[in-house]
Amino acid sequence: MTTPIRVAVIGAGMAGQAHAFGYRNAMMSVSTPISVELVAIADPNLPLAQSVAARYGFAEAIGDIDALLERDDIDAISVALPNFLHAEVLPKVIASGKHVFAEKPIGRTVEEASSLQELADASDAVTGVGFSFRRLPGLAALAAAIADGRIGEVHTVRGWYNADYAADPAGALSWRYSQEQSGGGALLDIGSHAIDAVQFVAGQISRVDNTTLRTVIAERPVPSAGAIGHGASASNERGPVTNDDIALLSVSFHNGAVGQISLSRIAQGVPNALGVEVFGTRGHASFNSINSGEFVLFEDGLTDAAYNGPRHIVTGPAHPYFTDVAAMPGGGVGTGYAEAFTAEIQEFLRCVAAGTEMDTDFAAASAMMNVVGAALEASKTGTAVDVA
Ligand SMILES: NC(=O)c1ccc[n+]([C@@H]2O[C@H](COP(=O)([O-])OP(=O)(O)OC[C@H]3O[C@@H](n4cnc5c(N)ncnc54)[C@H](O)[C@@H]3O)[C@@H](O)[C@H]2O)c1
Repeated sequence: MTTPIRVAVIGAGMAGQAHAFGYRNAMMSVSTPISVELVAIADPNLPLAQSVAARYGFAEAIGDIDALLERDDIDAISVALPNFLHAEVLPKVIASGKHVFAEKPIGRTVEEASSLQELADASDAVTGVGFSFRRLPGLAALAAAIADGRIGEVHTVRGWYNADYAADPAGALSWRYSQEQSGGGALLDIGSHAIDAVQFVAGQISRVDNTTLRTVIAERPVPSAGAIGHGASASNERGPVTNDDIALLSVSFHNGAVGQISLSRIAQGVPNALGVEVFGTRGHASFNSINSGEFVLFEDGLTDAAYNGPRHIVTGPAHPYFTDVAAMPGGGVGTGYAEAFTAEIQEFLRCVAAGTEMDTDFAAASAMMNVVGAALEASKTGTAVDVA
């Protein structure tokens, strides 16, 4: 039995619950034995923290986040708070010397993200970020195939994230709909995942050539009590939505490729889907998170002309993030977003145990935020903006 890594989660909302789920299931890791002690869930909404702690088997629930940070019986902390609290809470967690796994996007702006990255760089602790889609075997396998040169030189990239959590105008005005509190609507909330996915598979974006932002549902009911995730009871009062429902970006990459990224939180009938499609000089590859354990690969000339077409590949033990999270060891048993949370927490814990850096670190989050910053600037000026 390995020495347990003692963990706590700050924020018991939608993402905090997914982290709690991940820590609970990470105990089953196959390739690296990891043992985890589920210490505490912290949230100022104590009844919520209590119910989440009970549900996922954490020993305690705590209402005071600062008190949690002072404790010496915790090695690693997840932070899953609204975006406007990242720049306030993450520096305290880093200063406490504990390893930190932060929800994306780390802050609301380029300035907040880059100053958090500087703190992370100066710390000996492992600092990871929850770009959970990278842990879906289909997307991870697609990235590996492109890195392996299977489709030649990449020249065209399309990324998208469609969701319908904001499609109902009666949905309450949570922090997500405030530019001040969120830093961006679809552009940052779901765009952070799509932009990271696109950079993960096709390299760094060098310039945002054009951005269109649209707010379709301009006002919403103010919540009558605290909103959690996408649900809240609404009051009769209404308030303005100050960020985008839809974001469309045209981008250029350092490697010469060009791309488009399309983001919508009002995509009626598409609850939650991220996709990428990448074309290269010798083939193409595509992925849709609805079928997150699968991807499509076309390698020109792999076989004779009559059979020279795209292959639909179902991931299995030969692919990343499969063996450690699949309920059964063989291919074809299916995988979903729940497994992605288990896999990302396992990856974080592996880095904590080995003292190594995480691939999805604060630098990756900063690189994503730099694209968002350039996109916001391009939408204001109507001109192309280089990514910092
Ligand atoms: N990786 C993913 O797929 C994913 C999914 C959802 C959210 N997220 C990220 O996780 C973070 C949290 O999002 P969420 O959807 O869990 O939010 P949420 O609104 O569901 O939960 C936020 C939690 O923070 C607590 N909180 C503490 N102080 C607060 C304050 N001053 N005001 C409001 N709430 C306060 C609330 O009580 C609540 O439990 C965000 O940064 C978001 O971008 C990531």
